[in-house]
Amino acid sequence: MSSKVWGGRFTTSPNQLVEEMNASICFDQALLDEDIEGSLAHVAMLARCEIIEEGEAQTLTEGLKTVHEKVASGEATLRAQYEDIHMNVEMLLHEEIGKLAGKLHTARSRNDQVATDMHLYLKKKVQNISSLLNDVQTVLCEKAESHIDTIVPGYTHLQRAQPISFAHHLLAYFWMFQRDAGRLEDSLKRIDVSPLGAGAIAGTTFPIDRAFTADLLGFKEVYPNSMDAVSDRDFIVEFLSNASILMMHISRLSEEMIIWSSQEFNFVEFDDAFCTGSSMMPQKKNPDMPELLRGKTGRVYGHLMGLLTTLKGLPLTYNKDMQEDKEGMFDTVETLEKSLAILAPMLETMVVKKEQMYESVKQDYSNATDLADYLVTKGMAFRQAHEVTGKIVLSAIQQKKNLLDLSLEEYQSFSTFIDSDLYEALRPEQVVSARGSIGGTAPNQVKKQLNHAKSLLKSN
Ligand code: ARG
Repeated sequence: MSSKVWGGRFTTSPNQLVEEMNASICFDQALLDEDIEGSLAHVAMLARCEIIEEGEAQTLTEGLKTVHEKVASGEATLRAQYEDIHMNVEMLLHEEIGKLAGKLHTARSRNDQVATDMHLYLKKKVQNISSLLNDVQTVLCEKAESHIDTIVPGYTHLQRAQPISFAHHLLAYFWMFQRDAGRLEDSLKRIDVSPLGAGAIAGTTFPIDRAFTADLLGFKEVYPNSMDAVSDRDFIVEFLSNASILMMHISRLSEEMIIWSSQEFNFVEFDDAFCTGSSMMPQKKNPDMPELLRGKTGRVYGHLMGLLTTLKGLPLTYNKDMQEDKEGMFDTVETLEKSLAILAPMLETMVVKKEQMYESVKQDYSNATDLADYLVTKGMAFRQAHEVTGKIVLSAIQQKKNLLDLSLEEYQSFSTFIDSDLYEALRPEQVVSARGSIGGTAPNQVKKQLNHAKSLLKSN
């Protein structure tokens, strides 16, 4: 005879290692709130559909609430022996109200129960992550607002390409995060569906009301197919996939911030609160936080690949492999919540070294395109202008001069199209404000872009 809830058809208890391997309570206790919420709705439905009596429902409800409080406060202990959060709650309920606890699981299986818990959990978490993401976007807008006229080298191949407004650079990340926000919001359509009432696989013989529980739990709809309801984990894969793309964006931004904060670039400085020192080199101030945000991206990708791989060979419907869907999901939620909560103040307090940025722009050849464009406006074909400009740049490099340092005579020795108005066209401010096409870096365009971005922010 076994001590398990399901022990009826067993003659011996499980092996100790089996018990350890089987138990998920060490991590699925994170579903306590959702498990109680789901059970309360289930009990209300059982009474409403006259499957249990009103008085029984009241006792069960009170008991569940007490169990909730006791577990949350640490008064009641969760035990690996009872496998998971679902059975722990039921066992504790039994300790609380006795035999009647056995009625809680009428017309329900752990298969629809666990799926319900996870839908409830992820819905809450995706909403929270969306709001944290909105905070980061808000900071990006604020930072951009004060740096519309800050000019910084823009890069391709990490080689200086064209000068740009720093606000324009920051707003590029706003739009990446905006797509992430859209993906998270869209995924709610598939998270906001109730599996409760699907039973173990095929539904139940009891006259339950699935719409009622869905409504009580705040779900928009119910799964139309009980087999799909208990075996669908797409919504978690989708979350991990959205999280991976979001982390990839966070990681790219972090990488840039790390480069900018290096002494070689010296474009920004992080507040001490986001850095650490070296145990050996007293002068060091290391950008550990952006490094960790970049580093943690790896584990999120890993969770996505892990779950896809777990699911790929599973026949319908529930298989115990699916218990592996949780740790990666919890860890991803925690990683994202922490990363976003750190990113917002880190960006906010990041000192932008305007003068250093401008010095860099002045010392490069990133106005060469403008020299070529100048020649074109004077009537030269672009290909020829490109060639002539290349020769001028080469000559300037050989003389260790910048384009603005070459004399008019030198310029005219390359092309008679050139006149003294060239110097204005090559000034960094002019170079930036000349790019006034839609989505370009000219301050007037950046202002429009910023207004558009701000109109999309949600007031949390
Ligand atoms: N702890 C299990 C899980 O997370 C709950 C569902 C168990 N169902 C079952 N039929 N064994 O997947």
